Amino acid sequence: MSANQLDKKSEAWSALFSEPMSELVKRYTASVFFDQRLWRADIQGSLAHAEMLAAQGVISAEDHAAIQRGMAIITQEIESGAFQWKLDLEDVHLNIEARLTQLIGDAGKRLHTGRSRNDQVATDVRLWLRDEIDVIGALLAELQKALVDLAERHAEVIMPGFTHLQVAQPVSFGHHMLAYVEMFARDAERMADVRRRVNRLPLGAAALAGTSYPLDRQRVARTLGMDGVCQNSLDAVSDRDFAIEFTAAAALVMVHVSRLSEELVLWMSQSFGFIDMADRFCTGSSIMPQKKNPDVPELARGKTGRVVGHLMGLLTLMKGQPLAYNKDNQEDKEPLFDTVDTLKDTLRIFVELVGGIVVKPEAMERAALKGYATATDLADYLVKKGLPFRDAHEVVAHAVKTAIGLGVDLSQLPLATLQSFSPLVGEDVYEVLSLRGSLEARNILGGTAPAQVRAQVERHRARLGA
Ligand code: ARG
Repeated sequence: MSANQLDKKSEAWSALFSEPMSELVKRYTASVFFDQRLWRADIQGSLAHAEMLAAQGVISAEDHAAIQRGMAIITQEIESGAFQWKLDLEDVHLNIEARLTQLIGDAGKRLHTGRSRNDQVATDVRLWLRDEIDVIGALLAELQKALVDLAERHAEVIMPGFTHLQVAQPVSFGHHMLAYVEMFARDAERMADVRRRVNRLPLGAAALAGTSYPLDRQRVARTLGMDGVCQNSLDAVSDRDFAIEFTAAAALVMVHVSRLSEELVLWMSQSFGFIDMADRFCTGSSIMPQKKNPDVPELARGKTGRVVGHLMGLLTLMKGQPLAYNKDNQEDKEPLFDTVDTLKDTLRIFVELVGGIVVKPEAMERAALKGYATATDLADYLVKKGLPFRDAHEVVAHAVKTAIGLGVDLSQLPLATLQSFSPLVGEDVYEVLSLRGSLEARNILGGTAPAQVRAQVERHRARLGA
């Protein structure tokens, strides 16, 4: 590129090209308006590459110093907003390189020695994503802590546990919250695992086949804090499986948030009335003055579809590509960026939202009483008195039917009525028919008894350092 050609990439490829690109093709092929967010990673990668080129004697110490100087100026220009991004220069890489050459001359042109945009872009995306994964990991830890706090405050609160959305057995509200802690803990593990494969260095793969310059790839990997180098140049420049598996892990986080959102929406409805949500997470209606809508969880549920869509998009982007690099891969960025943005915003907002949940224990308990939630306890009681479980199941079905007919709870049936279903029933039956008795009875590892909930809270606190 000669100095007067720096602004026009379309004229800058090589002498081979005899006509300029049309405006439409320029816009269609350019990525600078979305990939400029990789600028910090791009400069970081370039500085590590230049340092190694100098150490290997491929470029001079003076060139290296000039590159450092130029990159410092560019960093300052981008941070202050003074940097002029040019569509004509297609992407973040060519924009920065062209400005470098404008600032420092020939040394800027030597930076690209032994490198291609193919290994450069793969490196940039990995560096950027690695740091974002660390932010996401921290947010997942915060969300878990918020849920653990909520669980601890409400370990004794009894709510109906559901299967098929039918009242099943009483559970502790704290236990219910800790179920989500388990999900988000696995999500954090998945993110950490993905990070190990993201954090490997493509640089040195050059366009596709490696390079004849004596590059020290391990040195660049160390400088960039990467866990190793990609071992096959064709794979290094072409596969985006690391972005796909990140998006899959992100989609799972969103699915977990979405399930929680669905429950919050239900619980806040008049029919349940289990919780209230701080006003700052809700909106009103322009026509119905009584309305308070749980917009934030609804949107989180909706945005889950968007992230799942990005996963499908990336998988489809990859499936038909022959080795090695193809321009298709430029399309990896917008879905990946949007996944990161959506996930981070959602997690940040949920940390706050969970902290602002107001629990209504009386409504939860009332709902648990309405649904014959202790029927299993009555069956277990009869089993402990010697009746085979299947027979006990049948006896309790009759008892529930009678109670429904009378419009009362099992615990409100007189002893004589209960004994008419089985002579094994004694005075002590009322202990197991109470919600609290049922809850306390499930005092087994992983069970809902408040003692178990508190033990789990301790375990999570130790694990999270909270
Ligand atoms: N903007 C391109 C991308 O995102 C950079 C790599 C371009 N490489 C090439 N051979 N055209 O993938």
